[in-house]
Amino acid sequence: MKIEAFAPGKVILFGEHSVVHKRPAIAVAINKGVDVLLTTRDDNIIKVEVPSINYSQESELINKRLDFELDSQNKMITDYIYEVINLFEFEQGFNLNVDIRMYLGAGLGSSAAVTVSCMKALSILAGVEMNKKTIAKQARNIEIKIQGAASPIDTSMSTYGGIIYIDENFELERIKFDMDLQLIVSNCQISGNTGKLVESVRQKYVKYPEIVENIFNAMQEIAKNAKDALENGNSELIGDLMNLNQGLLDSIGVNTVELSDMVYLSRKYGAKGSKLTGSGGGGCIIAFCPENIDTIYEELSKKYATFKCEQSDEGVYAKIIEN
Ligand code: MEV
Repeated sequence: MKIEAFAPGKVILFGEHSVVHKRPAIAVAINKGVDVLLTTRDDNIIKVEVPSINYSQESELINKRLDFELDSQNKMITDYIYEVINLFEFEQGFNLNVDIRMYLGAGLGSSAAVTVSCMKALSILAGVEMNKKTIAKQARNIEIKIQGAASPIDTSMSTYGGIIYIDENFELERIKFDMDLQLIVSNCQISGNTGKLVESVRQKYVKYPEIVENIFNAMQEIAKNAKDALENGNSELIGDLMNLNQGLLDSIGVNTVELSDMVYLSRKYGAKGSKLTGSGGGGCIIAFCPENIDTIYEELSKKYATFKCEQSDEGVYAKIIEN
């Protein structure tokens, strides 16, 4: 048997950091993510391969199970894969190839996409029926187990796809959007530390409560306006709101020289809007490019790791390609 699965990564379009302080945010599942190829074997060996990190490891099924022991000191992207394998019993061994077609640890939800795509493929092989609600829930449990904490955003985006409005009570609502959101993601390949950045913003809030409160309120207005702009397909406004959000993120101290360079390069070559995405302090920007996408892509690629993407409306899917 051969099964292929895909789960998307995500970008935060609006509302990073302010979402931590109960303001709305908008996340987009992107059509770059994690492809899984699962092929059964005639023996009891489970071979896991992750080419992007040069990982290849064989283990043995005993009484249909793997019984992987998580080493909590040593957080690895492969932990997510083995935790998923641990959920099921298997009649025979298999080769599991996990192709991560996005940046790892750059705020794009790579661990959620790995978890969700593996879960979809492996549940089919194990003969366990899992709907999207169950996949999102189990994947989040695995993220919490490995990371200690996890918001439901990444695992929901990888599972359901689409563009999601996260309201102040953390309820997720799908935004109706019927054009292609043409985006470029550029990565400066310096990692920001999300925990430290969230804490530094909290300290600023304590030090300048009225000012930072107003900044969060402005971010809230931006996210609310952006929901309408997306629903109405108003590209001009989407771009303007991204640029406004970027200025506010800079004001709370999560921007960097490299992020600014990528933001201004993309605008120079015609992006309608651009901003950092995720926690900042490094990592990625997104540029909204309904026009000039090829030029902007070429220019950013000269200096930074860059890809083009659009929203992924479908979320996780799998198909049996050989029975
Ligand atoms: C990190 O991708 C986004 C933050 O808003 C943190 C969070 O929401 O957990 C900075």
